[in-house]
Amino acid sequence: MSSTSSVVLNTGVSMPLVGFGTYKLCGSEEVYIAVDAALQAGYRAFDTAAVYRNEADLGRALRDLLPKHGLTREDIFITSKLGPKDQGERAMEAALYSVSELGMDYIDLYLIHWPGTQGVAVGDPCNQGNRAGSWVALEELHAQGKLRAIGVSNYTPAHMKTLLQSCRTPPALLQVEFHPRLCQTELRRVCEEQGVCFQAYSSLGKGELVKHPVVMEVAKGCERTPAQVLLRWAVQQGVPVLPKSSNPTRIQENMELFDFSLDAGTVERLTALDDKHKYCWDPSEVA
Ligand SMILES: NC(=O)c1ccc[n+]([C@@H]2O[C@H](COP(=O)([O-])OP(=O)(O)OC[C@H]3O[C@@H](n4cnc5c(N)ncnc54)[C@H](OP(=O)(O)O)[C@@H]3O)[C@@H](O)[C@H]2O)c1
Repeated sequence: MSSTSSVVLNTGVSMPLVGFGTYKLCGSEEVYIAVDAALQAGYRAFDTAAVYRNEADLGRALRDLLPKHGLTREDIFITSKLGPKDQGERAMEAALYSVSELGMDYIDLYLIHWPGTQGVAVGDPCNQGNRAGSWVALEELHAQGKLRAIGVSNYTPAHMKTLLQSCRTPPALLQVEFHPRLCQTELRRVCEEQGVCFQAYSSLGKGELVKHPVVMEVAKGCERTPAQVLLRWAVQQGVPVLPKSSNPTRIQENMELFDFSLDAGTVERLTALDDKHKYCWDPSEVA
C-alpha cells in the first residue's frame, strides 16, 4: 500500500483506508482462506461484528496466520460492533465478550452497530436511552484501554447530533452505507465539522453496483474493474472502505487502488448517480 493509504482518527491512531469486510463470511474454513488471502494482498484492517457470528473464527485465523505473514497483533487493526440485542445495560458485558471471542487483549475500534435496540419498536424513545447507556459503557472500556477507539454505525444526522452533545468521549468514527448512489452529503458534513472519521460500508452495493452501466463504462475507459472504480471513488475522497469478498482473486483486486486515479469529471459523473438508494437497511425511523 502507498503512504497515503491510511487515515488518522481523533484518538491519534492510524487506520488503513482499505479494510477487509467480513459480513457473510462464515465457518472457520471460509474465514481462514479469506483472511490468508487478505493478509497476502496487504489488508491490515478487518471489520467484524457480534451479529456476524465470526469473531472467534476471525481471531483464530489471525492468531494462526499473522506469524506466517511476518506480522504481529500490533500490525493489524480490528473493528467489531455491539449487537442491537445488547444495547443499554448489557453493553459492557457484550463488548468484553467480543474481546474474548476474538482472543485478543483489546479491540482497536468498537462501534454501536445500530441506533435501535432489538425487540424495541423503532419509534420507541427507549432506543435513545439505551444507546446513551451503551455509549457510557463504551467510554468506560475505552478509558480502560480494552477498546482503543469507539464509534457508531448507521447513525443518522439526528442520532449523531444527540450523541455529540451528550458524550464525554466523542466518537472516533461513523460507519455507514456509502457509494455513488448514496453519497450521504449531510452525514459527511456533520462528521467533517466534528472531526469524526466517515467510513463507507457496502461500497460495491453488495455486489450489485458493479453492474451499473455508468460504473462499467468508467471502468472500461480507465482499464480497471468496476469494483476498483467504486472503491477508488471513495478512497480518493479520503473515505475508508471495507470491501468484502470470499474470492482470493477479488480480494487482491479490491486492494489494487493506489496506482491509478479518477479525474475530477469522472468523480463528478459517478457522484451524480446519487438517488439515495440503499442496498442495506434504513435507520431513519429509529427514535
Ligand atoms: N455497519 C453495518 O451495518 C454494515 C452493513 C453492511 C456491511 N458492513 C461491513 O462492510 C463490509 C462490506 O459490505 P457488504 O459486505 O455489504 O458489501 P460489498 O463489499 O458492497 O459487496 C460484497 C459483495 O460483492 C461481491 N464482490 C466483492 N468483490 C467483488 C469484485 N471485485 N467484483 C465483483 N463482485 C465483488 C462479493 O461477492 P464474493 O464474496 O463472492 O466475492 C459480495 O457479494 C461488510 O462485509 C461488513 O464488514 C457493515
